[in-house]
Formats: sequence, structure tokens, C-alpha cells
Amino acid sequence: MSVQAPIGVFDSGLGGLTVLKEIVNRLPEYDFIYLGDNARAPYGPRDFETVYQYTLEAVKWLFDKGCPLVILACNTASAKALRNIQQKDLPSMDPSKRVLGVIRPTTEVIGDYTETNHIGILGTKGTIESGSYVIEIQKSFPDVTIYQQACPDWVELVESGDYQTSKADQPVKECLDNLLDQCAGIDTILLGCTHYPLLLPVIKRHVNPAVQIISQGEIVAESLVFYLKRHPEMANRLSKSAKMEFFTTGDTDHFRHAAGVFWGKELPAEKAFL
Ligand code: DGL
Repeated sequence: MSVQAPIGVFDSGLGGLTVLKEIVNRLPEYDFIYLGDNARAPYGPRDFETVYQYTLEAVKWLFDKGCPLVILACNTASAKALRNIQQKDLPSMDPSKRVLGVIRPTTEVIGDYTETNHIGILGTKGTIESGSYVIEIQKSFPDVTIYQQACPDWVELVESGDYQTSKADQPVKECLDNLLDQCAGIDTILLGCTHYPLLLPVIKRHVNPAVQIISQGEIVAESLVFYLKRHPEMANRLSKSAKMEFFTTGDTDHFRHAAGVFWGKELPAEKAFL
């Protein structure tokens, strides 16, 4: 049997921790290496090629750490880089390894949440402009109408820590109003960026409580549990000693503190050079 190694989880910054937290809740026995490219976040405004190159570097770095399975816990990277990496790069890098994203698992179930068949999607400029959510949801739920809104400032609010201050209210309200003004029948809003769940208390202040706000973490975690059941050959390659390691391309002190506020305890991080 080959050497067992951790699951790699990647995001442009802190947002992927909202996904990792739910994965750890569901799969506490597994080992994880988290990589945040905080030095180059946000990815949302960057062009296709740049997001692809940065994400590819991160995947290679996690592969070099031994991870046989990497989760792109970032919608922007999933929208702009995943397909290329899966189809073009993986066969030459290591065809036995796997890279999974967060958009497909979300779009496979999101239609089950709506009663009105009107769903709003909030995401980065890159994710929204890619049209990935609209294309994928229509495959699984052709009767659902999608309304989209890019939220250009939200990732910065999270990365800087300003999401915990009143500075967040105005930009959050503005994007929510732009989304909800598109259709009075929206009963479900998907947070299509892994950073946005950190803004949930602010978002809830500006949305009618009848509208449900869906974060992806639990959906992605559930989908990973199912994936590992269907792929025991991959599950057997993953180490299970309940260990987590955190790496950032940015400032390690900032990561430890900022991630800790969200995680409930400080998360010591090591420096990763991509
Ligand atoms: N968490 C990333 C996502 O889900 C944030 C993207 C960014 O860095 O702009 O899209």
C-alpha cells in the first residue's frame, strides 16, 4: 500500500476555512493541510489565466506535500481553473491524484432548497462572470431561475478583518439590494464564495428572515463524505491521525489571529512560498 497522506484544502485566503471546518466536523479522523494564498488574494478580480496559474501552483505545492486529494475550497478557482487542471494538467502531473471543486457539489443540490424556483447567487466578479453557477444549476434544475450579483468588496472585508465592524454594513446591504431588486420571488440566496459565510451576521441584518441564506461548507463536506465512500481506493491513501497543518503565502501572524477569530482558537500557520 502507498504511503498515506493528508487531504489538501486550498483557497485564495481565509475563506476556505469555512469549508474546512465543516469537512473536519464530518471527517474528524482525517489529516488536512490547508493552504491560503493570502499574499495574492483576492482572486475575484483577476483574469482567467492568472487564477489558473496561481491555482495550479497551489495544487502542485499540495501534491509535493504528498496530498493525493486536493479540494479547491474556492469558487473563483473552481470556476476558472478546475476544469483545465483536471483535464490538461492532472494526466501529466499524476493521474492517480484528484482535484475537486466546490461548484459542482453545490449546484447538484441547491435547487432542493427553493420553493419559488428563484435562487440568488452572490459571488466574486470572477465567479459570476464565468457563468458557472447558471450553467451547472440549469443542468440539475432546469425549472430554477438564477439571479446573480457580484460583490467586489466582500473578500477584502473578510481578509482585512473589517467584516466584524460596522464598515461592512454599507457594502453588504448594497449588493444584497442589487440582488433582491432583480426579483421579489427570490427565497434562497447562495453564498457562492467561501469567504462570505464570515459575513453572515451582517448579511442577516439586511435580508428578510423569510429568505434562506445557504453557505456551501456543509454541502461540500457531505459531498466529500459520499465521494470517499464511492472511492475506497482514495480513502485508503489518506492518513487518519486527526492532524491539521496551516500554511499561508501571506503574513503568518495575521493568519494565526484572523483565522483564530473565526475558528474559535488561534491557528498557527507556517509560511508557504508559491
Ligand atoms: N473564497 C474565494 C471564493 O470562494 C474568494 C475569492 C477571492 O479571493 O476573491 O471565490
